[in-house]
Amino acid sequence: MSGYLALIDKLAVEGTLEHGEFLALLKGRSEDTAQYLFEKARAVRHAIYGRDVYMRGLIEFTNYCKNDCFYCGIRRSNREADRYRLTPEQILDCCAAGYKLGFRTFVLQGGEDPYYTDERMADIIRAIKSRYPDCAVTLSIGEKSRESYRLLREAGADRYLLRHETANDEHYAKLHPASLTLANRKRCLYDLKDLGYQVGCGFMVGSPYQNDACIADDLLFIKELDPHMVGIGPFIPHHQTPFAAEKPGTMELTLFLLGVIRLMLPGVLLPATTALGTIHTQGREQGILAGANVVMPNLSPRDVRTKYMLYDNKICTGDEAAECRVCLQRRMESIGYNLTVARGDYIPPQRSFVLPVIPESNITDGKEGSDPEERKCYV
Ligand code: 5AD
Ligand code: FES
Repeated sequence: MSGYLALIDKLAVEGTLEHGEFLALLKGRSEDTAQYLFEKARAVRHAIYGRDVYMRGLIEFTNYCKNDCFYCGIRRSNREADRYRLTPEQILDCCAAGYKLGFRTFVLQGGEDPYYTDERMADIIRAIKSRYPDCAVTLSIGEKSRESYRLLREAGADRYLLRHETANDEHYAKLHPASLTLANRKRCLYDLKDLGYQVGCGFMVGSPYQNDACIADDLLFIKELDPHMVGIGPFIPHHQTPFAAEKPGTMELTLFLLGVIRLMLPGVLLPATTALGTIHTQGREQGILAGANVVMPNLSPRDVRTKYMLYDNKICTGDEAAECRVCLQRRMESIGYNLTVARGDYIPPQRSFVLPVIPESNITDGKEGSDPEERKCYV
């Protein structure tokens, strides 16, 4: 047990572990050690973000998709999916409703839909940014060329979410058709970062064929990319996909990984996802208590919500945006956190630190290349 806790201490101090150490951390986890991890993860998040929880208004503007990912309910081979696209006016109406409710980040998420050319997307982004200059626009529209990413950034997009899905090539090939590669996914993420977006990667917990070695690969890739956001949530089967009969991921492992990621990247924006809320009624609250600091309720018009089904039984498909806002506020208050009206940009941890009380035993000399003064704040 103490050797095991030493691994968590090492993670907190150094921000990463060796591949084999990550394997040991995953294999040896228990209820008690997870609590130890979550306490440390919360201390780090409180030092940087206090008890604020940022909210992002998710606008699912198209469920057309040219891709065929094996896990996803809106894959192009799903002939049963009832396809829709929102007009720019409908998207702006979602933003107007969201702004009134206190949202200061709009996430435009969709399948990879060629109808939305760069020009059409740029027009939508410009319209949102001119009406709501105090808001951030996040895109989540998949793999594109560097040139497209550049145009969209120039139009005003601030952030981009593109989960890497798995950082293991063989695993990637089991989740996707051969036309999609991990190499291109990574190229996209590095291009986005280079173009000045705040970038989010991430993966599904418990996706088919995932093992601890894949997860260790994911964690090391996340460390290498050093993103501003990381989205992780449990895999949940969708009945009209090749993975219909696969087992869902667990809340337990998702929470554990949220805690690990918070210790690896202290300032990261880390959502307690809708998928986590779908597999357990208290999933999002537990996610916040494990180290997450973002929630992403849905701002899509109610009549399209049941059509944006990436997985079965998704929550909140019958609720108005205002209902979700009130519901989440209550949920966050019930665990001592506040839903905040703010853009909620990434805070580089070095700048903003209020030092938490650190047990002497946890202060180390630091490693070569890392500033000990900086690192010891995270413990
Ligand atoms: N279960 C959970 N998450 C899913 N996603 C897609 N399909 C599923 C599923 N069946 C996630 C992917 C994608 C994000 C938008 O939703 O990780 O990147
Ligand atoms: Fe949508 Fe609770 S967040 S109803």
